[in-house]
Amino acid sequence: MPGTAVDLTVPSLADLHRRRSEKWALHDEDVLSLTVAEMDFPIAHPIREALFAAIDRNDLGYALARTPTLTGALVGFVGRRLDWAVDPEQVTVVPDVMVGLIELCRAIAAPGQAVAFATPAYPPFFAELQGAGFRLFTVDLDAQGRIELGALDSVLSRGVAAFVLTNPHNPTGHVATREELALLAERCAAAETWVLADEVHAPMVLPGADHTPWLEVSDAAREYGIALTSASKAFNLAALKTAFIVTAGDRSREIVSRLTAQHDHASLLGMIAAELAFTEGDTWLDAVVGQLQLNRTQLAADLAAQLPEVHWIPPQATYLAWLDCTRLGLGDEPESAFLTQGRVALGRGLDYGQPGAGTSVSTSQRVQNTSAMPSAGWPSPSSANRSAPLLLVLRRRVDPDSRIAVVFAR
Ligand SMILES: Cc1ncc(COP(=O)(O)O)c(C=O)c1O
Repeated sequence: MPGTAVDLTVPSLADLHRRRSEKWALHDEDVLSLTVAEMDFPIAHPIREALFAAIDRNDLGYALARTPTLTGALVGFVGRRLDWAVDPEQVTVVPDVMVGLIELCRAIAAPGQAVAFATPAYPPFFAELQGAGFRLFTVDLDAQGRIELGALDSVLSRGVAAFVLTNPHNPTGHVATREELALLAERCAAAETWVLADEVHAPMVLPGADHTPWLEVSDAAREYGIALTSASKAFNLAALKTAFIVTAGDRSREIVSRLTAQHDHASLLGMIAAELAFTEGDTWLDAVVGQLQLNRTQLAADLAAQLPEVHWIPPQATYLAWLDCTRLGLGDEPESAFLTQGRVALGRGLDYGQPGAGTSVSTSQRVQNTSAMPSAGWPSPSSANRSAPLLLVLRRRVDPDSRIAVVFAR
């Protein structure tokens, strides 16, 4: 980015394939993997230095239950960047957002009780919440990516212990307005349904949208809400296993106090990295958000020029894009055509639930020109070598049409 020393150069495809993350280890060496929601940018320099320093002093033991500098760093970060006033006494470390969500559901709901969320949804919600013994109810998002209140009411009326809200949403990138969230809070509070607000994507709200942290929405939201956040998505630290539960009231705090202590299962390195991300990561994050904004613009131009059949609502946050591929005629699982013909690995949209049947892709290479989307309609293998942050998610609607969703983060 001009004016900053932040280096967002994405390594060559060959170097990316030397990585051992699921995103890169699963595919042949000529495949550009866009399958998992992690970016490929080099991590922020201060985080890198802090991790090297920890290794130099062989600091690889267990973490404290409370680290005031870490909590203070989180409080400073969310206050500065998200207008979210957090009480440091109401912050609890967990290994990751999914563990936090599952443990909170266990504390709130008895086995067999229902947990709900909006679809399309982050795929692990299905497997992990069901695996933990809960019944799942889903609410389809409307065409603009909003939670449809009539559908929500009908689900809540069936008895829902907890509603998992993804704020901002994965995979649509929708950023709900304060008004949308306030209505959701009213409905859930009236039904005595807890809202577990997964806000892991919030630091990546793109220019043009305003994120409202759940615990800042209203008294109802605070009364029946618990938030989860992490540096893992925005700072690309998923391997380091550190996330946070945040509460804003006595009842919610009491629920969290019933969780078995999780800090020993989180990573000391993750806590060190998160503290640096929250205190010294702003410049890097600004550069990434700026790059994602450029990628979003580039993707819109590429689609208009080369894949005009694809319908896309550009995301307001995250590096995800959800593309309607119905008119490409690639069948219900377009990711296989993209992989075999384009050598681009995309996620499977059907994994996001029935309304999102299709493919999901995440890339972190910078899109430098429109040849990343060749006129034939397939990403070409040669485009894989161009560095560009692009994350594609293809999705198809099973019924009655099909979609591609694109995620653009590299
Ligand atoms: C909405 C959402 N929640 C949770 C996660 C996973 O977070 P964690 O690795 O902290 O469990 C992701 C990862 O992509 C996500 O997109």
